[in-house]
Amino acid sequence: MSSVKVVKTLAFSLRISEIAPDKSISHRCAMFAMLADGTSEIENFLRAEDTLNSLNIVKNLGATVEDDGVTIRISSDGIKESSEILDCGNSGTGIRLFCGLLSSAEGHFVLTGDEYLRRRPMKRVTAPLRDIGAKLDGRKDGDLAPLSIRGASLKAFNYESKIASAQVKSAMILAALRADGECSYSEPELSRDHTERMLKGMGAEIEVDGLTTRIKPMKKLLSPLKIRVPADPSSAFFFAVAAAITPNSDVVLEGVTLNPTRIEAFKALERMGALMSYEITENKYEPIGNIHVKHAPLKAITVEHNISWLIDELPALSIAFACADGISIVKNAEELRVKESDRISTVVNGLRACRIEVDEVHDGYSVKGGELREAVIDSHGDHRIAMSFIIAGLKCGMSVNDVDCINTSFPNFFELLQKITKVEFK
Ligand code: S3P
Repeated sequence: MSSVKVVKTLAFSLRISEIAPDKSISHRCAMFAMLADGTSEIENFLRAEDTLNSLNIVKNLGATVEDDGVTIRISSDGIKESSEILDCGNSGTGIRLFCGLLSSAEGHFVLTGDEYLRRRPMKRVTAPLRDIGAKLDGRKDGDLAPLSIRGASLKAFNYESKIASAQVKSAMILAALRADGECSYSEPELSRDHTERMLKGMGAEIEVDGLTTRIKPMKKLLSPLKIRVPADPSSAFFFAVAAAITPNSDVVLEGVTLNPTRIEAFKALERMGALMSYEITENKYEPIGNIHVKHAPLKAITVEHNISWLIDELPALSIAFACADGISIVKNAEELRVKESDRISTVVNGLRACRIEVDEVHDGYSVKGGELREAVIDSHGDHRIAMSFIIAGLKCGMSVNDVDCINTSFPNFFELLQKITKVEFK
């Protein structure tokens, strides 16, 4: 388990074209290629632990994967039973979406993950899938991985989810594609919609009407994907916060997906006073372009709506809260407690270690802007906690332990960080 120490940065002006490719889209590329008739061609696939695990699982399920270092080509003639245990590593997206994909596949499958993933709740997908006939089980009556699946025939459903989760929605949409009739899925707030956009682009009969998605079962295999994965806004956001909290600094983040369900944290930073502009450069499956972020004095805000649109960015946004004038408040964010770590407690304890005043409640926290002080932070194996506190270190210096987890989503994070500060690996 490696640790790093970063030092306070000086002003910087940077253009970054190498932000890690989008994790959500990369997972989906690997999985959805298994539903296509022909070879899917994926450029700029995220070569990080989480998504390489999904790619490996797809291989274990019988797909042919060719990689020339630029384009990954995936072809499949149907999902095959695997003699391997399918290891999703740290990825909630991986395990939950595979539950949906495999529930109707012929054969028996075992999905598992690392020590953190094996503690995260799976009932949110196993319960609704069981209700439509899926044969799924795991520890605590199907709530904890390892999960075992025996493919079965699935009944059509109208499911009203109580949580806004793209992972649950995507698992159910994948199940619906092979159910015995038209299905509908509604959610309380729109969660990220890559699944709907990509499957529609591949020819699936999916209609989105506000918060309800209607899905017709596949009559034939879908068209293969031809896609270049855009940069991940959740990864780009660390550098947006870096520029926003550093006087006289700015950054241009190139080729990022500008899907509205993914850039809410940038809008929050804008509400705080950072100077932002967006430029759309292409539009395939979803809008893609550049985001320019420039420092300005930050003021406190309240974040309480569309929480699923910035759920992954709240730890980094909290570093901006710590540098703002006033008390920022996060509400309705209980989902943070079941991410790669309990992110309410890891953010609150981390900020307290940096001598920032913070109050914790069951579904959020408040942060009083102040002066961040150097501390030693434990990532708790959570990549976004590790990167958030490293960015805080740009203000005051910081040591962060257990940073290997950054490889799950952003393998070149340190390479880019070294353009703005000195990083010492321990
Ligand atoms: C993801 C959905 C989100 C997000 C995760 C990726 C996805 O989780 O936190 O990092 O790719 O569908 P939930 O849908 O469970 O909120």
